[in-house]
Amino acid sequence: MKLFYPLPIRDIRRETADAVSLAFDVPEALREEFRFTQGQYLTFRHEVDGEELRRCYSICAGVDDGELRIAVKAVAGGRFSTFANAALSVGDVLHVFPPLGDFHTELDPAASRRYVAFAGGSGVTPILSLVKTTLAREPTSSFSIFYGNRDSRSIIFMEELAALKDRFLDRLAVTHILSEDVQEIDLFNGQLDREKCNEIVSAIPRLDDVHAFFICGPALMMDAAEAALVDAGVGKDRILIERFSSDGPSASVDPVAPPSAARRAVAEDALARVSAVIDGRRIEFGFGPADASVLEAGHAAGAPLPFACKGGVCGACRARVLEGEAEMKVNYALEEDEVAAGHILTCQAVPRSETLVVSFDE
Ligand SMILES: Cc1cc2nc3c(=O)[nH]c(=O)nc-3n(C[C@H](O)[C@H](O)[C@H](O)COP(=O)(O)OP(=O)(O)OC[C@H]3O[C@@H](n4cnc5c(N)ncnc54)[C@H](O)[C@@H]3O)c2cc1C
Ligand code: FES
Repeated sequence: MKLFYPLPIRDIRRETADAVSLAFDVPEALREEFRFTQGQYLTFRHEVDGEELRRCYSICAGVDDGELRIAVKAVAGGRFSTFANAALSVGDVLHVFPPLGDFHTELDPAASRRYVAFAGGSGVTPILSLVKTTLAREPTSSFSIFYGNRDSRSIIFMEELAALKDRFLDRLAVTHILSEDVQEIDLFNGQLDREKCNEIVSAIPRLDDVHAFFICGPALMMDAAEAALVDAGVGKDRILIERFSSDGPSASVDPVAPPSAARRAVAEDALARVSAVIDGRRIEFGFGPADASVLEAGHAAGAPLPFACKGGVCGACRARVLEGEAEMKVNYALEEDEVAAGHILTCQAVPRSETLVVSFDE
């Protein structure tokens, strides 16, 4: 069974005033366990001020870089991210769960493809891994990144991206969209909101010819980029999105809806009818043949259900079964007594009864 492994920090680099990157020493015996695919993330377990926290951070290294490195941006009031920025030193040991995630497409060294990414703030982390790996492993493919930040001082990996651009002159384009610094070209000023994303998408030549679009950043930015692409005719099968927090998708349930009022249509072919109680409201959705988990079915229906790792590791998606039955594929987060009390990890659970009622409030 996979576990959290203690890995010492080998190197700490200050990337911006509020972001650090951390590289880890991976002992020979764990090399296989920590082999990663571009765009994947690590889950950390660490005690901060007496509280055990589990958090995910995307790997920013390319698969051929020979290092395991992540980047952490401090969020205001954030327990782990502010701790990581202020208190960690080289030699400190963090407990790390091996790489997870499917924010990537299969690479083919013989293919000549175009890729486009929309990144905002720390959302550039998995994008950097994708870019470095793709440019190295598909020698005639190209990448364009549209990267939104407040100003030039807040751009994580600014120098690394500039060095990559110099190295891959014809194959990498990086466009910085800044909301507070004014740049010469108007398209590059402002926020990656819906209007800006529309403008950018309409300026991308031959959209049909782009192999995949990657999106990672704040929820509103991701929604804007996705909607702009879909409106321009890009199929969702070519759009890959990595969400860092559960504050999206923004098209979720009416926040002022009274309890039990937020209902969604349950499709005819649903295998089970799920009710999720969250913040005192009850949301209903169907679990269909294509759904991999209760969490995934809820998200597909627009329910704002909490998550982080989606790998059964962090416990962020924990809920209690009030009615019906569910089975978990894996569980690395819940203790035996929690399972006995009816708790499940919704990212790993599939219904085993026609009706399943779960509560995220207990
Ligand atoms: C798959 C995945 C990959 C991730 N990769 C990265 C990464 O590469 N770099 C990185 O910096 N973070 C990344 N995150 C986010 C990270 O896991 C934490 O959620 C984030 O660092 C906040 O943790 P915290 O303990 O500091 O904040 P908490 O103490 O959990 O939260 C404090 C406050 O901050 C808000 N908050 C939580 N997360 C965010 C956020 N991302 N943006 C703005 N406000 C937030 C909360 O709503 C709360 O109000 C990733 C998350 C996931 C699920
Ligand atoms: S989201 Fe981490 S265990 Fe489910």
